[in-house]
Amino acid sequence: MMKKRLFIISNRLPLTIETTDNNVTMRQSSGGLISAITTYLKGSGKEFFSEKIWAGVPGCTEKIWDIANNEHSPADYNYLPVFMKSKMYELYYNGFSNSLLWPLFHYFPSFAEYHSSYFDAYMEANRSFADILSKQVRNEDFVWIHDYHLLPLAGMLREKFPKLTIGFFLHIPFPSYEIFRVIPKQWQREILTGMLGADLIGFHTVDYSSHFLSCVEMALKTGHDGQHISWENRQIKVDAFPISIDFDLFNNAYDNTKVEAIRKTYLKLKKDKKLLFSVDRLDYTKGLYNRLKGFKKFLLANPEYHGKVVFALVVVPSRDSIRKYAERKKIIDEFIGNLNSTLGTINWQPIIYQYNHLDFEQLIALYTTCDVALITPLRDGMNLVSKEFVASRKDKQGVLILSEMAGAARELTEALLINPNDTDEIAEMIKQGFEMEKKEQEERITAMQERISRYDVNAWAGDFLSQLKEVKDVQLGFE
Ligand code: UDP
Ligand code: G6P
Repeated sequence: MMKKRLFIISNRLPLTIETTDNNVTMRQSSGGLISAITTYLKGSGKEFFSEKIWAGVPGCTEKIWDIANNEHSPADYNYLPVFMKSKMYELYYNGFSNSLLWPLFHYFPSFAEYHSSYFDAYMEANRSFADILSKQVRNEDFVWIHDYHLLPLAGMLREKFPKLTIGFFLHIPFPSYEIFRVIPKQWQREILTGMLGADLIGFHTVDYSSHFLSCVEMALKTGHDGQHISWENRQIKVDAFPISIDFDLFNNAYDNTKVEAIRKTYLKLKKDKKLLFSVDRLDYTKGLYNRLKGFKKFLLANPEYHGKVVFALVVVPSRDSIRKYAERKKIIDEFIGNLNSTLGTINWQPIIYQYNHLDFEQLIALYTTCDVALITPLRDGMNLVSKEFVASRKDKQGVLILSEMAGAARELTEALLINPNDTDEIAEMIKQGFEMEKKEQEERITAMQERISRYDVNAWAGDFLSQLKEVKDVQLGFE
């Protein structure tokens, strides 16, 4: 039997190319989607797919892309670049995707901006994807579309390829109908009917998938049986697939010689101080401000910890041409400067702040040096950082403080769960984390590691793709 090809479609490619004046820099992209898909493509799927192709927007000219692709062409898959005019990209990416869908789907309705120019560019950008893909895909291929930038794409492809196998996975929350309904009705329709172009629609949690089903019911007046929707002569499946990480990669990284060397340096700097650690993109959904307020409250309530604790706060630059993001950076910078100057001394800086990307070894070294990881999103589809922290603790030590608003809180129930709006609770949990007995740390980490290792990223992708195949086989009568 002929092997099929797998097309992965996402807005961002794993290679980020930045051009400033005469300088071109390239680096590995950040974010949960990229981490999960690159890991899956590296390891699996060889037995089922003859070729794997990742389509996305390179964010540079064709000339620069050709050079970059020649130098950094991955071994496990090929790229299919989707070039767009920069004005259209700006309105589609900064506009509709990140100034309407992102805030709204993360329950920040007051941050959402409604402009028809955003919506028009969003549809046009999706059509650009559809046009380029139409020249490449064949009916027997598998197409797996990812995330909120590409909600209408499945519908557009479906018009051209009635029999094509299409999966869609959303990497962010899907909100309740009360939130979704604030989108203009025509846009609601385009979004939902677009998603229904897929045969299998996946979300991180059961809550998100049931929100989607009620939105379909309310906005499209279309029924479902809790998991299936009949739409234009196709039976579509909707299900939860909690995304995960490569457990072994993170667990084994503890003994990696580069990681060991970096950890040694950090331990020397740390001495006998307690180390609190967090890393996330600079995003208002990540709850950085409340996290800092919680840390300040902890210091004010526990003067005996002054000089004995350090908070290593790593913030990864993200979407900084959007006003709401740039504003956030200013607020965070000011808060840290203020706290360090008022509570710190010549000998002690309470917060060490890095505004930059980390490489893998640095990340693991920090995960495995800290005493407490503090992860406090106000909303997060899943949050892979929390799973990575747990997996990397081969020493079975360390405490995870995790927001109950992160999808990961459904699985990481042995973490110290907090409400990210409650800064008093954050402060109390920091203290509890620092003072937790080693035995209890070990019990909690072990239970979470067992759970993460059972359903890792390859199980996630394998599960999605095999269910996609099943759904298609049923549709085509191959059962
Ligand atoms: N990450 C990264 N570079 C960094 C810091 C983090 O690539 O400098 C990775 C991190 O390891 C994780 C992902 O970015 O896999 C963040 O995923 P998460 O789901 O926590 O949040 P998202 O950024 O997708 O909202
Ligand atoms: C989240 C989204 C991804 C996105 C990532 C980084 O994880 O779900 O789709 O790629 O953030 O954001 P960026 O805007 O830089 O791609």
